[in-house]
Parts: sequence; C-alpha cells; structure tokens
Amino acid sequence: MAATAEKTTDRSRYSRVAIILHWAIAGLIIFNLAIGFVMEGFPPPVRFPMVLVHVSSGMTVLALTVVRLIWWMTHEPPPHLVSLKFWEHRLARTAHVLLYVAMVGMPLTGWAIVSAHPRPGSAGAAEQARVRPNTIPGRPAGASQPVPGAPTVAQATPGAPGAETTAMSGAPGAPAAATGAPPRREIKLWGFIPFSSIKPVQDIGETAGGYEPQHELHEEFVGWHSIGAYLLLLVLGMHIAGALKHQYIDKEPELQRMGVGGRDKKV
Ligand code: HEM
Ligand code: HEM
Repeated sequence: MAATAEKTTDRSRYSRVAIILHWAIAGLIIFNLAIGFVMEGFPPPVRFPMVLVHVSSGMTVLALTVVRLIWWMTHEPPPHLVSLKFWEHRLARTAHVLLYVAMVGMPLTGWAIVSAHPRPGSAGAAEQARVRPNTIPGRPAGASQPVPGAPTVAQATPGAPGAETTAMSGAPGAPAAATGAPPRREIKLWGFIPFSSIKPVQDIGETAGGYEPQHELHEEFVGWHSIGAYLLLLVLGMHIAGALKHQYIDKEPELQRMGVGGRDKKV
C-alpha cells in the first residue's frame, strides 16, 4: 500500500502560507477576469472606479505572486499524489507553470497598458489632445474644443498639483495637458498605495513624435492582455477540471491538499 502510505503523510498537504496565497491570488484573478471583461461596457462615471479596482487587484496579484515564488523557492511543495498517471502529472505541472506565467504576465501587460500614455504636460500629451481628443476625460467624443467651464491648461502644468500622475486611458489620470480636461487625479492602489507608471514606456510619449509609436505600443499591450485573459481562462478551466476529476472521479483527497475540507485521515 505504498500509495496510501504516501497519501497519509503530512507532506501531501501544501503549507498554510502556500494555501492562503493560492486562494488569495485565485480569488483576485477570478475577480479581475470578471470585472475586466465587463468594465469597458460601462459609462465613464462607473467605469473609472471599476478600472481603478481592477488595477489595484491586478497589482496585488503581482505582489502576492512574488511572495508565492519566494515561498516556493524556499519551501518544497508536497509531492504529487502517487496515484496520478504520468500524463496527468505532466498536464498538472504544465498547467501550474502556465498559471504562474499568467500570474506574472497579466499584471505586467496591464501595467504596461496604463503606462503607455504621455505624461501630463508633455508635448506627447498635447499631441494626443490634437489627434485623439475624445480619449480625454472632460471632452465629449468628437469635440475639438475643451468643454466650456472645464479647468484650464495651468492646472495641468508640470509641477502643478495633479500633473505628475499616471495616465490611464479613459480613466482618472488620462492626459490633460492643453486640453481643458479636468485636473488629473493621482492613481492610488486601493485608494492609498502610490502607483507609478513603467517609466521607459511612459517616456516614449514624451515628445509629439513619440505619441503615435507609444499609442501603437499601447494597442499591442491591450492585445497581449486580452489574449492572455482568454488563454488564462482556458488553462484555469483545465486546472479546475483536473482538481475536480481527482477529487470526485478518482476519489482522491485533492482539494484537501489545497486546504479545502478537513484534514481527513487520507491527507
Ligand atoms: C486563477 C485561479 C487559480 C490559480 C492562478 C491557481 C494556481 C495554482 C497553482 C500555481 C498551483 C500549484 C501549487 C502552487 O504553486 O501554489 C495550484 C494548485 C492547486 N489548485 Fe489552483 N489555482 C487557481 C484556482 C483554483 C481553483 C478554483 C481550484 C479549485 C477547484 C484550485 C485547486 C487547486 C488544487 C487542489 C491544487 C493542488 C494541486 C496539487 O498539487 O495536487 N485552484 N493552483
Ligand atoms: C490578475 C491580473 C489581471 C487580469 C486577470 C486581468 C484581466 C483583464 C481582462 C479580462 C480584461 C478585458 C480584456 C478584453 O476585453 O479583451 C482586462 C482589461 C484591462 N486591464 Fe486587466 N487584468 C489584470 C491585471 C491588470 C493590471 C495590473 C492592470 C493595470 C495596472 C490592468 C489594466 C487593464 C486595462 C487598462 C484594461 C482595459 C484595456 C482596454 O481594452 O483598453 N489589468 N484585464
């Protein structure tokens, strides 16, 4: 009964920290997938807070994944259930590696999207206002003039309050220079943690000539982020199906390994 002997050892359960990190990251990612696919369909007053929550949750996934990877390097995970067939073992491993790629890749591409906007007050921001005015909050789609009564350029001058903030397309913080758009609000994760753009990506749009290449890059990042989301859904489906198969068809204590259910005699 080698298999039973393997299964009854404490080593068949992930450590408490690994379990907490797994479910925290899983919850945030599932939340971000759900909110990500619907947020663009909402009008700006609802969309902006949704995007901010999406950004906050996604950056938290990145931070927790770094902790998870450090934990993983310093704490050996439990061996796979010995009852797994060779192909199941390989498939589970592959799914875990791909999930880790997504846990890092999704936040990074999202961060790159948000960073691929000209800095407020830069020549690139003025160029954006000229060629794509309807991407600027405070200006109705198609308008070529600032909204009457909207704050003036002075409010978006570099160094002025709110000028050195991170840009986000169609969200608080999008370029306002020379546009008459409302002053930019600084992005804070969960409302209080400072957030910066990826500087080399933001710097591309510093000049008027840099704005278009930066916009193309922005579209690329949006494409990667979107494809990544669909691939993640696919791998996640596989991961969940595998876990449920082992639990309910093979009747193995699979979910208990990840802390679901009591520590029964098999785990
Ligand atoms: C986006 C959501 C999820 C991600 C990113 C994710 C990621 C992972 C990763 C990377 C592992 C390998 C162990 C580790 O390094 O922590 C793992 C293990 C596991 N996950 Fe998930 N997971 C997610 C959702 C779920 C869900 C919804 C379930 C429940 C059906 C689940 C059940 C498990 C189980 C049972 C294991 C242990 C596998 C084993 O070694 O036997 N996961 N998960
Ligand atoms: C766990 C990580 C993340 C997941 C699972 C995720 C998921 C998604 C999904 C499903 C979409 C909609 C894609 C589509 O409509 O095709 C989306 C869009 C978006 N995400 Fe994320 N996201 C994550 C992290 C982030 C982060 C960290 C940021 C910013 C720092 C971010 C910024 C955005 C933006 C700006 C959009 C809208 C893109 C556009 O269509 O213009 N995301 N995300």
